[in-house]
Amino acid sequence: MLFTSRSTWILASASVRALAATTFQSTGNPILADGSYYSADPAPLVINDTLYILAGRDQAAANVNNFVMNEWEIFSTTSATPAGGSWTLYPAIATPQSIFKWAIAGTAYAAQIVKGVNGKFYLYAPVTEANSNNADKFAIGVAVSSSPLGPFTDAHPVGPILSQSIPSPGNDIQNIDPTVLVDDDGKVYIYYGTFGALRGYQLSSDMATTVGSVTTVNNLTGFFEAPWIMKRSGTYYMLYAANNAGANSPCTPTSYHACIAYGTASSPLGPWTFRGVILDIVSSTTSHPGAVEYRGKWYLVYHTADATNSGHFRRSVAWDELNFDTQSPPRINKVVQTRRAVTAPVPTRNLAAKAKASSVNATPIQYWVEALHDGKIPSNPLPPDYWCSYDGDASPKTNTLIYTWSWAVALNGVRMAFFADQPAGSNIGVPPPASWKVEYLNPAGQWTVVANSSAYPVTVTDNPSEVKFTQITTASIRAVLTASVSGNQYGGIGVKEWEALAPTAS
Ligand SMILES: *[C@@H]1O[C@H](CO)[C@@H](O)[C@H](O)[C@H]1NC(C)=O
Ligand SMILES: *[C@@H]1O[C@H](CO)[C@@H](O)[C@H](O)[C@H]1NC(C)=O
Ligand SMILES: *[C@@H]1O[C@H](CO)[C@@H](O)[C@H](O)[C@H]1NC(C)=O
Repeated sequence: MLFTSRSTWILASASVRALAATTFQSTGNPILADGSYYSADPAPLVINDTLYILAGRDQAAANVNNFVMNEWEIFSTTSATPAGGSWTLYPAIATPQSIFKWAIAGTAYAAQIVKGVNGKFYLYAPVTEANSNNADKFAIGVAVSSSPLGPFTDAHPVGPILSQSIPSPGNDIQNIDPTVLVDDDGKVYIYYGTFGALRGYQLSSDMATTVGSVTTVNNLTGFFEAPWIMKRSGTYYMLYAANNAGANSPCTPTSYHACIAYGTASSPLGPWTFRGVILDIVSSTTSHPGAVEYRGKWYLVYHTADATNSGHFRRSVAWDELNFDTQSPPRINKVVQTRRAVTAPVPTRNLAAKAKASSVNATPIQYWVEALHDGKIPSNPLPPDYWCSYDGDASPKTNTLIYTWSWAVALNGVRMAFFADQPAGSNIGVPPPASWKVEYLNPAGQWTVVANSSAYPVTVTDNPSEVKFTQITTASIRAVLTASVSGNQYGGIGVKEWEALAPTAS
């Protein structure tokens, strides 16, 4: 991060740790894009025309496929446009163990700060309980402060307000992702849950004790996690991360992705009616909504993997306008994602990005044919970061990948970066393929093997050598890959990237 000033010092926790707040200039989404500090699971709050965004810090190393989240931070601004402006980052405003004596370090997951009717600020946070007999030790605590920036102290020091055993008789879900609404009449509602389970309660005026029985929500299509409750003009809205993967899904092409969908209700505990998708999948596999009215407009706050050296576990907070239509109740229009201006792309021989990609065999639901030509060769990918044919002990022998352009392109080479988790010759998991070749659609409409090709490497490397061949002009090429076999069982084939190379860069 380029720190342009060191403006403020704040008390970061009850243990009186002073941490520097820093100001920086955003040039558009993600808000802080230089990769110096990652942030996820944003929860916005507006006080006195200042936008505060609470987020968890992503600290996973570059190739670690795991959430490493130990603290929460706050970004704040008085700038009124996602296109850029001055922001302040307050790092480490809280850690689970600094607030809650009953919590251990780590799992600083999606939290939210709301303003109570008494004017104090309440932080609802999912943490891991230190001493718990629950099968799943996640629990939700609430802490309080006189400032949205903290320091926060436990508002319910006897322990969590929600867990697998609180309140009795408890539940068998993972108790994370709290979202809280302080309604116009002063009543307070909390929703929480993940992995498809969404629960809600009214809270008493102590902001901690549940009132009445649990509300189980099962009418929000594709609900996966990350609920966000809000109210606008008498209508309650529930935004959430959804997954209902499939070829015709309006939401998610693979089982790893999430879109943001929502429902509405006329009362805070439902019933909820599904209303649609408002944000398509983002560059991170996870997605997380927060929404707020700020300086006369509504905004959706979310996270992506669009910052420098980002990844699915190194996410960064972004925000864009959220608009409503005039139906009753007002529906949310699809959010248009904006991004900071990027430098002009470097000339490349690779024309794959301009092709339509497809596979002849159906692609198993966790893998993604679009990953073939996304320009990324990740060293430690998640399944949607590559294409793969792996189908247990039924992986097919022959796999055909196709690129089709809407005009004729000149090509004289390809490169293919394979994914493998098994050695060559294996018939389990994903070994390198046994062999492959490239064909093109000739002017007579027939598939023809490219001529005079150099060797087709099957070595697994993120810097594969080029297969050169006599120049062709065609609207379509295909790669025919033969899987590694032993006995009569074939291994899967994984492809991180398939480049189609023109004779000259453009
Ligand atoms: C908001 O403004 C009021 C009135 O000026 C002030 O008392 C309060 O401290 C401000 N709150 C924050 C969080 O800045
Ligand atoms: C469930 O959603 C449908 C529309 O998606 C709506 O018609 C119905 O009223 C909802 N039911 C409940 C119990 O929320
Ligand atoms: C293969 O290369 C040779 C020599 O470079 C060339 O004469 C021939 O035309 C090429 N074959 C095809 C089918 O293009």
